[in-house]
Amino acid sequence: MWVIGHRGAAGTAPENTLLSITNALNCGVDWIEIDVRMIDNSIIVVHEESLDRTTNGSRSAYGYGLAKLRTLDSGNGEKIPLLTEVLSLIDAKAGINIEIKQHGFIQEILKLARVFTKHQPDWRNRIMFSSFIPEVMSDLKELDLSGCVVGSLSKDTAEDPIRLATDLGAYSVNISFEHLSESLVEGAHKNGLKVLVYTVNDPVAIERCIELSVDGIFTDFPERTIATYRARS
Ligand code: G3P
Ligand code: MG
Repeated sequence: MWVIGHRGAAGTAPENTLLSITNALNCGVDWIEIDVRMIDNSIIVVHEESLDRTTNGSRSAYGYGLAKLRTLDSGNGEKIPLLTEVLSLIDAKAGINIEIKQHGFIQEILKLARVFTKHQPDWRNRIMFSSFIPEVMSDLKELDLSGCVVGSLSKDTAEDPIRLATDLGAYSVNISFEHLSESLVEGAHKNGLKVLVYTVNDPVAIERCIELSVDGIFTDFPERTIATYRARS
């Protein structure tokens, strides 16, 4: 079962920062998940539009220019990283799940991803795009992802997650722990889809994921999660 560092290792360092990602890499995670938006023609790594929760800035990130945004403190002196810095840091030592939090810049992300897959073949099939935004997912369906993959992200079960993922030609169903079920895992596996579950920090929930043979879990505490998994197997 893959351990996927959620926002890096968000339980151990300011989320979505280079420190958080370094912590996740040091634990030996299989993948790292981050959230991206585009500001001032640059792809930055930040979860929500408002800067209040994660930085010493305030209100909307879109009200800042890139230079000013990069002076903000995300905690422990960490800055909001650029996607290119994150890809360079990871250097294909783990896969990356880029969760796209805004519609309208998929071509820019793909262009950047292709630079990395071209120069570092180990990135092939280890850059995964996902999004809760249906328009982003439709764009992904239409594009040549050349060596990148899609995680079909579902927030609720209003739509059949397996059908949705199959329609998209996705690599995985990325589903919340609350919506995990034995039948979903079986159905996904029958359809050649991996099942990646977010966000799993509690040991009982980790056990449940292992029992159901899910393929990966997103966790804020990769070190603890890897230890629980190793103790079990
Ligand atoms: O992609 C899994 C998970 O990160 C989705 O939720 O809000 O943490 O980005 P969120
Ligand atoms: Mg996310």
